[in-house]
Amino acid sequence: MSDIYLQTDQDLPAIESLMAEAFGPQRHGRSVWALRPGPPVTSLCLVIREGATTIGSLRFWEVMLGSQIILLLGPLAVRPELRGRGVGRALISEALDRATGGDWPLVLVSGEVDYYPRFGFVPAAPYGLDWPGFIEPERLQFFELQEGALAALPAGPLAVRPLPG
Ligand SMILES: CC(C)(COP(=O)(O)OP(=O)(O)OC[C@H]1O[C@@H](n2cnc3c(N)ncnc32)[C@H](O)[C@@H]1OP(=O)(O)O)[C@@H](O)C(=O)NCCC(=O)NCCS
Repeated sequence: MSDIYLQTDQDLPAIESLMAEAFGPQRHGRSVWALRPGPPVTSLCLVIREGATTIGSLRFWEVMLGSQIILLLGPLAVRPELRGRGVGRALISEALDRATGGDWPLVLVSGEVDYYPRFGFVPAAPYGLDWPGFIEPERLQFFELQEGALAALPAGPLAVRPLPG
């Protein structure tokens, strides 16, 4: 059975190859990648390994929604030949558990419309999110880490979180 770990530097080559397989060479040109110029949230960078092989990766970045810092989920990718075995589900469930109780009120994802609702994500479209750049609005989905966060959604656009200092 495979196990979940915090990502280490040794996972980085495998993660790059997972990203290339899943999202292709044009991935860095997509608007979601522009929201992640800095480092990810290390406490939420998870991998699943089978033996010494990294077979799945999930990372999060902090982004600004108006004046509030929220989490942007992704990228998430699983080795193509190992999809459909619960690897993605295990990574997301573990990460949402770890993120709950922190300072973040919300998680936002730009992802598969049929995949994220099973974890409790809801469409972001009704909230009129101001996303920077091109996006298919139906892919945007929110998950509440703090009850009532969506009802108190701050005004303002989604933007890169400036690096501290
Ligand atoms: C999307 C992805 C991460 C799913 O990982 P996975 O390990 O295959 O998913 P799981 O096995 O945990 O699937 C859990 C459930 O979701 C379903 N599911 C899997 N991929 C799905 C998709 N793209 N759309 C809708 N449902 C999906 C599975 O059938 C399973 O359903 P079940 O619980 O009823 O059996 C994987 O297919 C992948 O790496 N895709 C390419 C990259 C990508 O699209 N990433 C997500 C965008 S951010």
